[in-house]
Amino acid sequence: MIDFNNVSFSYEPGRPVIENLSFHIEKGEAVGLVGANGAGKSTVMKLLLGLLEGEGTILVDGLEVKKQNLPEIRKKMGFVFQNSENQMFMPTVYEDMMFGPLNYGVKREEAEKKVDEVLARLHLQHLKHRHNYKLSGGELKMAAIATILAMEPQIILMDEPTASLDPENRRIVIDTIRSLDQTKIITSHDPEVIAEVCTRVIELKK
Ligand SMILES: Nc1ncnc2c1ncn2[C@@H]1O[C@H](COP(=O)(O)OP(=O)(O)OP(=O)(O)O)[C@@H](O)[C@H]1O
Ligand SMILES: [Mg+2]
Repeated sequence: MIDFNNVSFSYEPGRPVIENLSFHIEKGEAVGLVGANGAGKSTVMKLLLGLLEGEGTILVDGLEVKKQNLPEIRKKMGFVFQNSENQMFMPTVYEDMMFGPLNYGVKREEAEKKVDEVLARLHLQHLKHRHNYKLSGGELKMAAIATILAMEPQIILMDEPTASLDPENRRIVIDTIRSLDQTKIITSHDPEVIAEVCTRVIELKK
């Protein structure tokens, strides 16, 4: 499902962040991407989404990550950003959750049903009509996760999904991620999240 072949990337010339990184992820795997602060985990996710462009080749479901394939590739992937403020851009949680499905041609009633189902699953019904900019950090994180789940992507990328969550929401998120059978890549500094959710771990080191 995902192939990194000799991928290298630097933000600044002469200071590589990723050097000759290769890995392969099968359909349905749940892979933990771990490593110290600054090791390059978020960078790997951004390369995978085509938000950054490096050297080497990256394939998603057989498609090379490059400009002309990005619309098709992004349809397959849902990305929970490390910083939720970069992700939520509509006025309310409801509008953000509806945006993806409607944009991909899902009928309004169907999208509505999906949104309610995901909100119930995450115990977030109370946030449905709240304004994104008025949410607390943890509430916004939960809403961002809900937005991605409502799109039912084939591949789910989550960058620090439980950071800033209280123990109750952290538990809900872990259990929800576990119950999803999509292909997943999760970065986390929380060893319990990795241990409970992932079937394999890739560690980035220098
Ligand atoms: N826009 C940028 N310009 C220059 N350097 C950057 C930029 N973004 C990230 N970096 C650097 O690239 C390296 C990798 O950053 P990245 O965000 O991928 O790390 P990370 O593994 O996700 O860390 P964390 O665990 O803190 O989230 C870091 O040294 C960081 O300072
Ligand atoms: Mg990061």
